[in-house]
Amino acid sequence: MPPILANYYLTYKCNSRCTYCDIPVKPANIGIKETPPEVIIENLHALKRLGVKVVDFTGGEPLIYKHLPTVLRAAKEMGLYTSVANTGTLYPWKAEELKGLIDDLKFSLSTIDPEAYSKERGINGFAKVIESIKIAKSLGEQPSIIATATPDSIEQMEDVIGLAQELGVVVLLGPVFDYCDNELLRKESVEEIKRLSKYDNVCVNWAFAEFYVDGGNQIDAPRCRAISSTVVVSPDDHLLLPCYHMHDERLKIKHEDGRSNLDEIWRSAHVQKRRKEEGSWDFCQGCTIWCYFETSFLWPPDKYFLLNILSKIRWSKEKLKQYVEARSSLNFTRKLAGDRDKILKAISNNPVNQPKTTEKKEPVAKAK
Ligand SMILES: C[S@@+](CC[C@H](N)C(=O)[O-])C[C@H]1O[C@@H](n2cnc3c(N)ncnc32)[C@H](O)[C@@H]1O
Ligand code: SF4
Ligand code: SF4
Repeated sequence: MPPILANYYLTYKCNSRCTYCDIPVKPANIGIKETPPEVIIENLHALKRLGVKVVDFTGGEPLIYKHLPTVLRAAKEMGLYTSVANTGTLYPWKAEELKGLIDDLKFSLSTIDPEAYSKERGINGFAKVIESIKIAKSLGEQPSIIATATPDSIEQMEDVIGLAQELGVVVLLGPVFDYCDNELLRKESVEEIKRLSKYDNVCVNWAFAEFYVDGGNQIDAPRCRAISSTVVVSPDDHLLLPCYHMHDERLKIKHEDGRSNLDEIWRSAHVQKRRKEEGSWDFCQGCTIWCYFETSFLWPPDKYFLLNILSKIRWSKEKLKQYVEARSSLNFTRKLAGDRDKILKAISNNPVNQPKTTEKKEPVAKAK
């Protein structure tokens, strides 16, 4: 099976400083130069030749990369599915340019309290995120919220779900992974995530929640398929092995006569040898870096494979509901979460148009 996903790091720069992420401050990342868009487009052609279907343009903060619209447009023209997660702190300035170019647009948000937001993400950005979600919706996008539950933020997740319901978007809720010696969630908190997954508008990857509680990747029976499933490219044009977070190898991509050799590198004997060892290195023990497991769980057959499929079905249903609600006056959101007064206050402390109310719990026919 060819890799299905590319995690394309456009930049390591970021205007936030999250407690659980060191991408913008890691010494090895500082000073790394970004690649011109024409070179990235050559790599996109190589990814397409390799059979990749989805490109997640990431970072750092991907909206800092000034040629993001150009590379997204090229990816779409090649028939690649595009995905971008961002903080929402820069989106209002870029929204028009990005309109229609991102198939899966996500905003990161784990609280409805502006102070808690600043404490977690090192930037006073809460109001901007709400503004961004409203702008994206007004432009006809179908954005989602990515909520990362930490030991500090897990108690706020029900309000985040309520906020997403008010705004008419889906929340992708998942546990924090250990990357910067940050604290992992306890078993009870993962159980709480599973309980919250029953609310409308929420998508939890149940396979990953189970895997997290089971202790993550085990090096004597690896479940990781990081190399098999995902091609990871750095901002300075290297293939990273085996994954971004624990890469111990950077292979320079070559370009000749407008052609990238990224696909040839991935097929090389060396990469294929490493592929056979994925998930078995010492640093892989207990790994729960979700960025590689949704695709790893596409390899059957076990309980994670089945739970992953069920989670994808749920995601499709919730996104369809979001799509229909956004284009009609129908409202299918019945199981409401969180403290409504707090949620409405958090949303209304914002200059952009008012949210759609979820007070009506029964579907209503569109007004003629
Ligand atoms: C690496 S960021 C890149 C995009 C952008 N800077 C952002 O934060 O939205 C992609 C997603 O990974 C999440 N993330 C970062 N570190 C994490 C960790 N240790 N555990 C779980 N999620 C994490 C972020 O919250 C964000 O939703
Ligand atoms: S905003 Fe994204 S890239 Fe920046 S520090 Fe936070 S998680 Fe990392
Ligand atoms: S188990 Fe984790 S650290 Fe090891 S290769 Fe897979 S994603 Fe990377």
